[in-house]
Amino acid sequence: MNKDREHLKILLRRAALQRRVREMGRQITRDFRGQRVHLVGVLKGACFFLSDLARNIELETSVDFMAVASYGKGSKSSGEVRLNKDLDTSIEGLNVILVEDILDTGLTLNYLIRVLQQRKPKVLRIAALLDKPSRRIQEVKADYIGFQIPNEFVVGYGLDYAERYRNLKDVCILSLPPE
Ligand code: IMP
Ligand code: MG
Repeated sequence: MNKDREHLKILLRRAALQRRVREMGRQITRDFRGQRVHLVGVLKGACFFLSDLARNIELETSVDFMAVASYGKGSKSSGEVRLNKDLDTSIEGLNVILVEDILDTGLTLNYLIRVLQQRKPKVLRIAALLDKPSRRIQEVKADYIGFQIPNEFVVGYGLDYAERYRNLKDVCILSLPPE
């Protein structure tokens, strides 16, 4: 891999991300007024978004995490989803919000929605920071979407390329040298 030939271009700046996440938190606060919410983050990408979102929700809030593998090391989806880490606690009867970094083909969220629905939450809502609608293979109805973005591979604010770039403050388009 030649890291020197990878190029980053800012797509969404930190301030815009923070503003939008604040709005999403306010909307969740309104939608679940007087109730408790349970945020389920999809590791690892979503934990950056989740930690900002959670701090903008003014309700009793608990968090848990799941880990799935779908992308492997590179930027191409294998189309397969495997559950690597399950939840620590039951979600039965809870207002669950599944928090994902990006909704791309829809395979990961579809799989997780199926798994979580079987566990009888009171409601199951989907929050995704980013949405690439043009890449959808399986339809997914997300309730809270941060930004719709073009069909580009992006990194930063939790999103990685081969585990790198998650810690960038902005969401950037990553251009890779031809393979
Ligand atoms: P899906 O199953 O195709 O919807 O993909 C969801 C997962 O693929 C996300 O949780 C990300 O880990 C990864 N992914 C999809 N698009 C991107 C991208 O542009 N940058 C980094 N990761 C991505
Ligand atoms: Mg990833």
